[in-house]
Amino acid sequence: MGGEINLINSIPLTTIKASTPASGRLSHDRPASGVRSVRWPIDTRSINLQYTVMMNSSPGPEQGVALVTGATGGLGRALVELLALRGYRVIAAARNPDRLPGIAGVTSLRLDVTDRRSIEAAMPALRAVDVVINNAGLNLGDGIAICRDPEAAEREMQVNFFGPLRLARAMVPLMKERGGGAIVNILSLLALAPLPLCGSYSASKAAAHSMTQAMRAELRRWNVRVIGVYPGPIDTAMAADLPEPKEPPSAVALAVVDALDGGQDEVFPGAVAQDLGAMWRANPKALEALFAGTN
Ligand SMILES: NC(=O)c1ccc[n+]([C@@H]2O[C@H](COP(=O)([O-])OP(=O)(O)OC[C@H]3O[C@@H](n4cnc5c(N)ncnc54)[C@H](OP(=O)(O)O)[C@@H]3O)[C@@H](O)[C@H]2O)c1
Repeated sequence: MGGEINLINSIPLTTIKASTPASGRLSHDRPASGVRSVRWPIDTRSINLQYTVMMNSSPGPEQGVALVTGATGGLGRALVELLALRGYRVIAAARNPDRLPGIAGVTSLRLDVTDRRSIEAAMPALRAVDVVINNAGLNLGDGIAICRDPEAAEREMQVNFFGPLRLARAMVPLMKERGGGAIVNILSLLALAPLPLCGSYSASKAAAHSMTQAMRAELRRWNVRVIGVYPGPIDTAMAADLPEPKEPPSAVALAVVDALDGGQDEVFPGAVAQDLGAMWRANPKALEALFAGTN
């Protein structure tokens, strides 16, 4: 059922191989350089992902308590489901918890990351949290110097930068007391180079990327891991207007939880994120030019 999808003409991309159930991790075969398309057997891959999740989901030892913000969204929900399957006790947080799907063993929590009082009110429920996943996000699809809504940049910064910052400042003292923990920040490739069509969103993710690096350095001595996640397009409401290819939320969740259970502190989930991440590492200006359409 595979197809050949031409992604971005100017960069070598990855041939995705079916995931490896035994390891539970996605495997990627690097083709010879110069390959300009990705073979994407979407149906098979999706089936394999489901299988992989199941293989990793036999009742395991309890992993700790994980908080996921923005759990009504596409990636948030996938993270909640996978963490629960992996043996975490999960707290699913949302501005409106009535919109959270009922999942056995998952606790719901009301939390608006832009509201200090909402975070204060949630703290009694967060005392035992080992892992904070800052997943809540807002992309208003606006420009930066030329914009439709002059308030957009501020609203995006409130959710994408100040939200994780507020939550980290509330949670870190508790993690220090408990001897450690982990903070996972769901960022974006656009944190590394901006897409002008959503310039203010990109800037907010870039700020959150820098915050992630600073926190990682600051909190290492307290045994608090800080993980940055840099996805490309994910098949959720936020990317509804984007063309394929988009990574399934379950695949992104799998890469995130694998990093959490493994030792990585940076995650580029899926073939597009891995290839564009590699391009950025080799030549940051090339990624900037690609997103700006000036390459
Ligand atoms: N989709 C992509 O292509 C893509 C690519 C790279 C990175 N990301 C990042 O992945 C993360 C998840 O996004 P998604 O793709 O799953 O998008 P989504 O379906 O739009 O979900 C976004 C979630 O954030 C929540 N949220 C927004 N403002 C909030 C606030 N003030 N307090 C608490 N929660 C708030 C939303 O809750 P409500 O239900 O209350 O609105 C929703 O649950 C985001 O950080 C996003 O920036 C997405």
